[in-house]
Amino acid sequence: MGKLIIVSNRLPVTVSKNKSKFSFQPSVGGLVTGVSSLDMTQEQIWIGWPGITLSGFSTKSDSMELKEKLSEQNYRPVFLKRNDFENYYQGFCNEVIWPLFHYFAQYANYQKKYWDSYKRVNEAFSKEVLEVANDDDVIWIHDYHLMLLPGLIRKKMPKVKIGFFLHIPFPSSEIFRLIPWCAELLDGLLGSDLIGFHTFDYARHFLESVRRVLGYEHTLGQITLGNHAVKVDTFPMGIDYEKFSHAPEKDEVQTSISKFRENIKKDYKVILSIDRLDYTKGIPERLEAFDYFLDKNPNYKGKVIFIVVAVPSRIEVEHYRLLKEQVDNLAGRINGKHGTIGWTPILYMYRSFDFVDLIALYSIADVLFLTPLRDGMNLVAKEYVAARKNEDGVLILGEMAGTAKELGEALIINPNDLHGTADALKKAITMPADEQKRRMISMRGRLKRYDVKRWAHDFMDRVNQIKEVQRQLISKGLSQSRKNKLLQNYQKSKRALFLLDYDGTLMPFNERPEKVKPDRELKGLLGSLCSNSGNHVVVISGRDRKTLDKWVSNISNALVAEHGVWIKEKKSWETLEMLSDEWKAEIRPILEVFVDRTPGSFIEEKDFSLVWHFRKVDPALAIVRLGELKDVLLHITANLNVGVLEGNKVVEVKDTGINKGKATMSWLAKAKWDFILSIGDDWTDEDIFEVLPEWAYSIKVGFGPTKARFNLPSYREVRKLLKDLIDVKS
Ligand code: UDP
Ligand code: G6P
Repeated sequence: MGKLIIVSNRLPVTVSKNKSKFSFQPSVGGLVTGVSSLDMTQEQIWIGWPGITLSGFSTKSDSMELKEKLSEQNYRPVFLKRNDFENYYQGFCNEVIWPLFHYFAQYANYQKKYWDSYKRVNEAFSKEVLEVANDDDVIWIHDYHLMLLPGLIRKKMPKVKIGFFLHIPFPSSEIFRLIPWCAELLDGLLGSDLIGFHTFDYARHFLESVRRVLGYEHTLGQITLGNHAVKVDTFPMGIDYEKFSHAPEKDEVQTSISKFRENIKKDYKVILSIDRLDYTKGIPERLEAFDYFLDKNPNYKGKVIFIVVAVPSRIEVEHYRLLKEQVDNLAGRINGKHGTIGWTPILYMYRSFDFVDLIALYSIADVLFLTPLRDGMNLVAKEYVAARKNEDGVLILGEMAGTAKELGEALIINPNDLHGTADALKKAITMPADEQKRRMISMRGRLKRYDVKRWAHDFMDRVNQIKEVQRQLISKGLSQSRKNKLLQNYQKSKRALFLLDYDGTLMPFNERPEKVKPDRELKGLLGSLCSNSGNHVVVISGRDRKTLDKWVSNISNALVAEHGVWIKEKKSWETLEMLSDEWKAEIRPILEVFVDRTPGSFIEEKDFSLVWHFRKVDPALAIVRLGELKDVLLHITANLNVGVLEGNKVVEVKDTGINKGKATMSWLAKAKWDFILSIGDDWTDEDIFEVLPEWAYSIKVGFGPTKARFNLPSYREVRKLLKDLIDVKS
């Protein structure tokens, strides 16, 4: 078993330097507390920024000393220059991605120098990873600071396992594509084998962004890019449940509880909130709601106390400084408005607490009051529930937190609804004990089952599963040895039959099908192949007769048009069967309605078929329309002798008796072939693969399920193969 390499912007410890001494503080934030509580049996290295910039070191030996100290805990630091700290961390990470991904688009500051620095720092991280990584390791990359890293590592290590987990929300594609570099970010992420999100919504938004920005489709969350499959899935991050649920019993926690209690009257109802001082957490909204609650329920004055812990965070970023001022003022104003000599309603602290004090705070709080405007998950909510061993206490939770999806028994509020939030506070304070218990038991059960270890193991299992899918994808790959065998067989052959599909096989797709004329290279290849008298080259396509005549008649020996409706061996086109096109009058108006309702789509009319093309249609709309159209056609065509077939961004209606397989059969019977090669890219070619003798060579272009014996990634490799075939006989 290889090792586990964890990579995140921040290491679990934040280093500072006082005079010439280093001091180490545990880092704050859900990522670090969650991931560092894993006890994986595997050897581990954690690569990240130690929280100090290079300007904090007076000499090179200083940084070496720190490197050594950190390595004792298997931490490997990535040092940032002051300039990168400002442009990458404060700039791109916290002035572009963070606000945008939390739907604060108005705070985003798109500066090119931020992006350049982001790229540079991701490169620096990739260098560190590459220095320690082996092919059998798992590289687990965390969070929005390192979205280019999977792609950078993948370029150098095509086989290594790479997982990426995003700890913050992934926004709707409409928001995401505001970033000028959104395509590069997605490309970077798609270097992973597995991309994990806290909730289904985030995963859904990501897949939609991939579809809209890069044009890649997915099947049940799997995006297949050549022979690389990327799985996108949901893993709601858990906490170390046992640790939190047993902690209140500890002596040091009990001591801390007593210390806190000394200053809080016994009969006060204690409301608590804890978060980093971040504009996404809805702290001002929460204070306003508390203020309103006291206005509406003056009988609670002198009976409740609201402990507000705001942990200092990203103080160098302007919006955080402004928020601090706002919260300071609000807390002061509310205390001034409602406070009396013996009672201060808000106990506001701008600091962080260690684990022991944190548990003590959770233990004394009758209500945990969290109102994030957006939050990837929110682990504080889960920790509170786990720490309530007596199964009492009430959680109020904003519905825009990922946690709200899991903890439905909390009092779920909309943080923008002042009245609703104040009502929830009253409900929480007055909630009967048995109702508290009922809700707590159910939430605790869920957190116990899906704890952080389960989260990590699920993630790792899924990384291994997708690797297996990738292995299967390449199992049909036309490896060099398979290709050599094919070439040898061809070399020996006297009568070789080639059945070649056109679009997607010999030529790449284009939004405008009329643009896909054969280029010079293809003309050269097909020309040479069919000029060999032992070869019979058939271009077998869904295209109409006219187009094939114009484009490929002089570089092939025979043509099949409209998926087998028409065959041309010598001079004229012939049909295999008596066909009718009377049904068109009924189907055409239906397709026309769909064209009118679906911008970007159009109809192609062939002799015996009608095709609805939707390559240029907005992908999300295309899915809806496709479903509708198939549904309508299914009913209408029931009494007609026509079938509805779905191709590569097309729906084709044609006579049921026709397919490429039938046309192929007629060729198989024509001669005693001793070599057959059929290449195609979509399901209409599967009809050919199916009727070929077992020994024939069949190749699917692309990596989906197929009856073909082999795969090639794209038309480029097909052309390379044709060139090699020509070379072995020349
Ligand atoms: N935390 C802490 N000390 C504090 C406040 C918070 O250790 O004084 C920890 C808390 O236990 C939790 C994390 O910081 O694990 C905050 O994670 P959360 O997901 O709630 O929010 P984030 O900071 O990641 O946005
Ligand atoms: C959130 C992010 C983490 C980050 C943490 C603290 O939890 O998801 O990646 O480490 O906030 O923020 P900071 O900027 O101090 O690292």
